[in-house]
Amino acid sequence: MADALFLGLDVGTSGVKAVLVSPAGAVEATASAALSLDTPRPGWAEQDPEAWWQASIAATRDVLAQRRASEVAAVGISGQMHSSVFLDRTGAVIRPALLWCDGRTTTECREIVSRAGAGGEARLREWVCNPALEGFTLPKVLWLRNHEPAAFARLATVLLAKDFIRFRLTGTLATEPSDASGTLMFDPARLRWSREILESVGLPLALLPAVGGSSEVLGRVHPQGAALTGLAPGTPVVGGGADNACGAAGVGAITAGEVVSSWGTSGTVLAPTAQPRVDPALRVHTFCHVLPDVWYLMGVVLTAGGAFAWYRDQFARDLAGADHLDARLIEEAARAPAGADGVTFLPYLQGERTPHRDASLRGAFVGLSLAHTRPHLTRAVLEGVCFALRDSVSILQELGLSPTHVLLTGGGARSAFIRRLQADVFGLPVTSVNREEGPAYGAALLAAVGVGAFPDLGAAVRCTLTRAPLTDPDLQGHAEYQPIYQRFRARQVAARTAPHGESIQRPFLTPSL
Ligand code: XUL
Repeated sequence: MADALFLGLDVGTSGVKAVLVSPAGAVEATASAALSLDTPRPGWAEQDPEAWWQASIAATRDVLAQRRASEVAAVGISGQMHSSVFLDRTGAVIRPALLWCDGRTTTECREIVSRAGAGGEARLREWVCNPALEGFTLPKVLWLRNHEPAAFARLATVLLAKDFIRFRLTGTLATEPSDASGTLMFDPARLRWSREILESVGLPLALLPAVGGSSEVLGRVHPQGAALTGLAPGTPVVGGGADNACGAAGVGAITAGEVVSSWGTSGTVLAPTAQPRVDPALRVHTFCHVLPDVWYLMGVVLTAGGAFAWYRDQFARDLAGADHLDARLIEEAARAPAGADGVTFLPYLQGERTPHRDASLRGAFVGLSLAHTRPHLTRAVLEGVCFALRDSVSILQELGLSPTHVLLTGGGARSAFIRRLQADVFGLPVTSVNREEGPAYGAALLAAVGVGAFPDLGAAVRCTLTRAPLTDPDLQGHAEYQPIYQRFRARQVAARTAPHGESIQRPFLTPSL
């Protein structure tokens, strides 16, 4: 296996990323293919699974072209969680997928709670460890039934993004626990589809694929998948995992005690646990990790990098075409003072999961004056995302997890300014690892484990990753940010748009400090 390479594919929201990883863990080649997001109405978010497949083909061909002489020994795929792929009996896609950040299903979430019977939400906690949230997959299936009955009548299988790519590559319909647990139809504690919830909403188990292991070989590339991608027919494809779980694996966060802060389109704060632990207020999610007997708690900010990208595209048009546009904006932000001279940004452009569980929230700049300039607003955007992530860190602390440091990954790890901002806002030392490929790297490690290159994921992580020295928070900076964070929390109420009672979750949920 010395010449063999492992292909990790990540089906994200802004693009598909491919990495080739050597048995020693070195990144031999990377490629990506961009994806666009459709927002047909405020709060809605869709993508066509066929676009994911075309982008996966393009990224795979591109990465293979860089290492033509080598052999791919196995493929691992990670992907955006919760997004609903609706297939008919022939395996054709019925309609665009409703994404993880789509907020149209508030009525269906209420339906799930009421159909669960007496105790509603407590029952859901018992059955699936999580509340009914708009972004999860089950409410999307009910939305299809309620709003597009002709499409629902054709529905034969519900898949997740990365499982659809495996289906196209291998012809196998399968998933694994880390992604299944984000559907609200899987019981993360008992590791099985929840017959209880399916019966309560009247959906057949036959809609769902078989569940295998994340590092187990669940299919082999078939001739058509091979012809399109350039992979060899018969190449094993492992279970892979949810992007957040693979991202955590890709930075070595696979045991209790770790906490990872990740900036992709969404922002997440993820903490592995040795048992399936559930937040009594259900502000953070409980999902399975990509290795046996490990779960995680996770807070989700729906638009983190997504909010920054929106802001850049709307308000930095004069810089469009400039090299390193993000870096230039971040430099501008660094010139504004901490707290942006009174401006607060609420990053709730698609509603919010943690801590509010409210799809009707909307983003806002609060505290604007004629004296404010773009650097103030840019800084407010970056600070707003860090404060929203801090809400999740605070909830984990409130639940008794006492992180000694936070592992940073994604966009927030690549910028020195945002690394410092996170350390100061969280009041915790931060670090990062020697690999920047996140979920795609974690997926490649799962592929390597699946074909025996490592005995298990722990060994893979130990052999391939090293950590940077910890960066301590600046004590004065942290002290300065305390009242600014409190101001953010006091202003969160400005994000409410629905008159009291219209959104599903009341009252306003916050970490108790
Ligand atoms: C997690 C979530 C997002 C997506 C992003 O629950 O919805 O982080 O996984 O791809």
